[in-house]
Amino acid sequence: MQMLEQPELDAGSFHLREFSDNDVPMVQQASMDQYISQITTLPYRASADEAVSFIHRQRERVLDGTGYSFAIADAQTNSAVGQIGLWLRNADRGRASIGYWVVEAERGRGVVTAALSALSAWGLTHPGIHRLELYVQPWNVASWRAAQACGFEREGLLRGWEIIDGEPKDLFMYSRLR
Ligand SMILES: CC(C)(COP(=O)(O)OP(=O)(O)OC[C@H]1O[C@@H](n2cnc3c(N)ncnc32)[C@H](O)[C@@H]1OP(=O)(O)O)[C@@H](O)C(=O)NCCC(=O)NCCS
Repeated sequence: MQMLEQPELDAGSFHLREFSDNDVPMVQQASMDQYISQITTLPYRASADEAVSFIHRQRERVLDGTGYSFAIADAQTNSAVGQIGLWLRNADRGRASIGYWVVEAERGRGVVTAALSALSAWGLTHPGIHRLELYVQPWNVASWRAAQACGFEREGLLRGWEIIDGEPKDLFMYSRLR
């Protein structure tokens, strides 16, 4: 895997930056949402040490070449409200995937729509990447509305695609092409 360099991306009222140890309280707050712990490596109700370990894992993603994990932060205060990542596991086939979450208290005010818009525009400038993918559970209306607002199209339902909470779950496949 190739070592990458993490940029800082402008996302309007937000910016996408690398995680810092100052984000521990926000990460602990996110870990109170059981669904976030089911779809990430963040333990449910994480201790401060577990939050620090999560942050360090995010910072390692560029170093081991698996992708870019950004904190979504307020552009004025630099206070983090969520996470968004561009993952390069299938980059040799020209495909990258995106995942994200926002802490509950900050939802419903366009955070992920702004972050996804910025990350997907930048992701498609990545050398060799022509296709971005998002996998969304059908009940997750906020997630797929954000995807559609950012130019992603639903391609179909992947049945039993991912084990989430110990069960195979159906996922909508969304994509955006260069
Ligand atoms: C999904 C998630 C990231 C959305 O983040 P957000 O910052 O609240 O989303 P936005 O405010 O940008 O809203 C996106 C769209 O969803 C709509 N929306 C927001 N909350 C909603 C809700 N509870 N139910 C239905 N629609 C909702 C918004 O109106 C907007 O649609 P519109 O532009 O057509 O009006 C957030 O709910 C979350 O972190 N959930 C837990 C983790 C998760 O599900 N991650 C994604 C896995 S695929």
